[in-house]
Amino acid sequence: MSRLCHSLLWAALLASPAAAQNLDSLLARMTLEEKLGQLNLLSANGRASPEQMQLVRAGKLGGLFNVIGAENTTPVQRIAVTESRLKIPLLFGLDVIHGYRTIFPIPLAEAGTFDPEVAEATARAAGAEAAAAGINWTYAPMVDIARDPRWGRIAEGSGEDPYLGSLMAAARVRGFQQSIFATVKHFAGYGAAEAGREYNETEISERTMREIYLPPFKAAVDAGVASVMSAFNDIAGVPSSGNAWLTDTVLRREWGFKGFVVSDWTSVAELMQHGIAGSQAEAGRRALTAGVDMDMQSGIYIDALAALVRSNRIPMAVVDTAVMHVLRAKLYLGLFRDPYRARPQPASAELRALARRAANESIVLLKNDRGLLPLAKTATIAVIGPLADSKEEPLGPWHTQGQAQDVVTVLQGIRSRASGVQVVYAQGAGVEDTSTAGFAAAVAAAKRANVAVLVLGERGDMSGEAASRSSLGLPGVQQQLLEAVAATGTPVVLVLMNGRPLIVEWASDHVPAILETWFLGVEAGNAIADVLFGDVNPSGRLPVTFPRVLGQVPIYYNHRNTGRPYDANNKFTSKYIDVPNTPRYPFGFGLSYTTLAYSDLKLSAPRARVTDTVTATVTVANTGKREGTEVVQLYVRDEVASVSPRVRELKAFQRVTLKPGESRAVSLRVAVRDLWFIGLDMKPVVEPGTFHVYVGPNSAEGLETSFECIP
Ligand code: BGC
Repeated sequence: MSRLCHSLLWAALLASPAAAQNLDSLLARMTLEEKLGQLNLLSANGRASPEQMQLVRAGKLGGLFNVIGAENTTPVQRIAVTESRLKIPLLFGLDVIHGYRTIFPIPLAEAGTFDPEVAEATARAAGAEAAAAGINWTYAPMVDIARDPRWGRIAEGSGEDPYLGSLMAAARVRGFQQSIFATVKHFAGYGAAEAGREYNETEISERTMREIYLPPFKAAVDAGVASVMSAFNDIAGVPSSGNAWLTDTVLRREWGFKGFVVSDWTSVAELMQHGIAGSQAEAGRRALTAGVDMDMQSGIYIDALAALVRSNRIPMAVVDTAVMHVLRAKLYLGLFRDPYRARPQPASAELRALARRAANESIVLLKNDRGLLPLAKTATIAVIGPLADSKEEPLGPWHTQGQAQDVVTVLQGIRSRASGVQVVYAQGAGVEDTSTAGFAAAVAAAKRANVAVLVLGERGDMSGEAASRSSLGLPGVQQQLLEAVAATGTPVVLVLMNGRPLIVEWASDHVPAILETWFLGVEAGNAIADVLFGDVNPSGRLPVTFPRVLGQVPIYYNHRNTGRPYDANNKFTSKYIDVPNTPRYPFGFGLSYTTLAYSDLKLSAPRARVTDTVTATVTVANTGKREGTEVVQLYVRDEVASVSPRVRELKAFQRVTLKPGESRAVSLRVAVRDLWFIGLDMKPVVEPGTFHVYVGPNSAEGLETSFECIP
């Protein structure tokens, strides 16, 4: 179904008098308990418990999540649609974040493809696989902008940029919603947790909220997302799960959201810990009246709200509105006519091929001195490190039904690729080991080889939820292992596996080649081997800035200029005395096995009105010896505005594949109206004046030109 069709259908259905009438009459027949039951969502443990089945029978449950397999969803659905009084079907939710059984790259990695089509394809595939297992609702995409790599959930989103994040959000919603409902989460500002500490408070101005944190949610809503999950964090003291400004003013009134809002796991009950509610009932009242329709896992709506409604402290209309949001969604999903939704299992070969393609495109080449990569297929290769032969870790966080047995490790990938090469393997150490006992074998392996591939980084569960880190180096003794192997003199290729930017200063200075591979899922080893041997030329770009030292965090490319912009030679400018302001690797950065040159940047017009579109054209030439894919990036800087502008903002990009020697004029379009910021009156505005346009390979380089925006 096309994008347009999708949102049109949703609108048509909601407008359809017949459907609306049916739901109205259903609502009229519901008891208060049955209404609150539709707003009650509980987690199962693989299958529904007898108590949960009883709740379904009694009409006191609107949905279940973590019921695994159609053999387990079907019997509970049967109870709902045959044994409950009103026969209202259940939603079956699950965190299908980057795959159901076939695990694709983590979302952060996939954002680095700068290829929304790939994100849409993997979401579609994951949705189809989940649908075949009885799931009809995923808790994805997670679209929280994150500027602090200490925060473990940075792995689940698209990084630091609202434009890239918005395209990825919309793509994933479209992909999932080919077969199941999507949930955009966590609304909102969760990624701004102070000090990167999980569940921490946030301080986000309304301007930053609207310019940075909200756009991906808006993009998901515009793409027709069915549900929105409220976040755990508070924003300047107002928790997101009881925040009427977010879930009512912005989401419903400004954006016209027609789906339903679900809380995060016990986030309704947590309003008591936040200290804004003194009782369960008050927590429930606060959340429901703020616009949180469905209560995940607190059980408060069903247990504590009926009395408040009966005593008129919560108007029945508030309950009815929430119930209608849920019922309409169920109707729209087709659950009333097809509650079991038996769906075919997608072909495994296709899923694996897609996983490999997505993984190929996600890999970022950070460094490649003297063309160490790609490797010759005739060498002796030492494969070393705690992650080199790990089947579990490439699955990354939130891998739901993913299985270690499905994973191709780096060692396996290299072995199966390179029939002419000799491979020697040594683990060296575990991810968080304190012992160096395995170093001798690793060093010996490196000495026997022409090149050492070291696979280092984090365990999959060191990012994701509840996985904040206070340091960003390689855990355990891995740094020492790297130095010991490098000291052999055998050239080292560092393959990083991690769910967040790491601080890799020593490696960046001393190791000739570095690949950032994040967590690539089941095809990790094949995809990495493809790149190591040059069968695939890396084309991934960083969706997030890599700091030099932890003290630079939060560090991101789209910052403001300050009144004293950085000047290395002037002490009294905005800087540190012990480290440059620049990152180690900027947003958008990534190398290729070929070289590219930019020239001839031109704009379609020197002046433009707000209603116009400006086209930038640049010539990109492949000046190297291999075919390669460049991500041509366009950034804009508003020169003078009533609010201090950001130094650069990504506004367009395009992946372009060029043969050796080929050069091409690449055009990138920017609608002037998209150059808005939140003005002094807190409304979006594009002000007339000069806009600088930069087109190049990343956020720190590029050719520059400008145009005038005229009134
Ligand atoms: C997470 C959500 C997730 C939910 C259900 C929560 O702890 O924050 O992202 O969807 O659990 O598993």
